[in-house]
Amino acid sequence: MIGKAMVCMMAGAMFSMFGCSAEEQLPAAKVTVEPAKVLIAYYSWSGNTRAAAEQIQKITRGTLFEVKPVKAYPTDYQACVDQAKKECRSGFKPELSTRVDDMKKYDVIFVGSPNWWGTMAPPVATFLTSYDFKGKTVIPFFTHGGGGVQNCESDFRKLCNGSDLPKAGVFSGGSVSRSGDAIAKWVHESVTVSK
Ligand SMILES: Cc1cc2nc3c(=O)[nH]c(=O)nc-3n(C[C@H](O)[C@H](O)[C@H](O)COP(=O)(O)O)c2cc1C
Repeated sequence: MIGKAMVCMMAGAMFSMFGCSAEEQLPAAKVTVEPAKVLIAYYSWSGNTRAAAEQIQKITRGTLFEVKPVKAYPTDYQACVDQAKKECRSGFKPELSTRVDDMKKYDVIFVGSPNWWGTMAPPVATFLTSYDFKGKTVIPFFTHGGGGVQNCESDFRKLCNGSDLPKAGVFSGGSVSRSGDAIAKWVHESVTVSK
């Protein structure tokens, strides 16, 4: 039988092999949560991330929350792309017009964003820096237009310092409505929702 000390030594050797501290490397433990303690916050410009958020809501029976900037992005695609380029490159964080009343109520917070210029949409960056998520499980999800996750997840992790972050859900925006099984599989890998 391998003793505790041996297991610790082996784990330590593995972590040093990858050049990270144990704290950085340990995967977030899967949490069990009741529906009333689940929040699904999202920003969506053209509806794909909202559709993913709604599917997560159905699976978890949590509370949906729309992140909205005070000044809506242009409805014209090219104008939105141009504005987003400047904002994403400069790290701009727009003011939000919606706020979660009592963040203390929630233990698990899904946070969804479209991939904009390889990162999260600026309203989501504002959302992440507007609350204290210490001790909570924050679960990112992204929809994209073909580029995949790019820097979305790593940028998200940087802004979410100190909280427990399971693997992000990454879904193709154009096929969110047909991705129910993939979304459910990822949700169930991340959390167990009690009855
Ligand atoms: C301003 C803007 C920038 C985008 N940048 C990217 C990108 O860098 N990579 C990518 O794969 N998709 C990009 N897309 C496509 C969106 O990520 C994709 O359509 C997403 O599903 C949209 O989500 P929404 O409908 O919730 O707004 C961009 C879309 C917009 C409007």
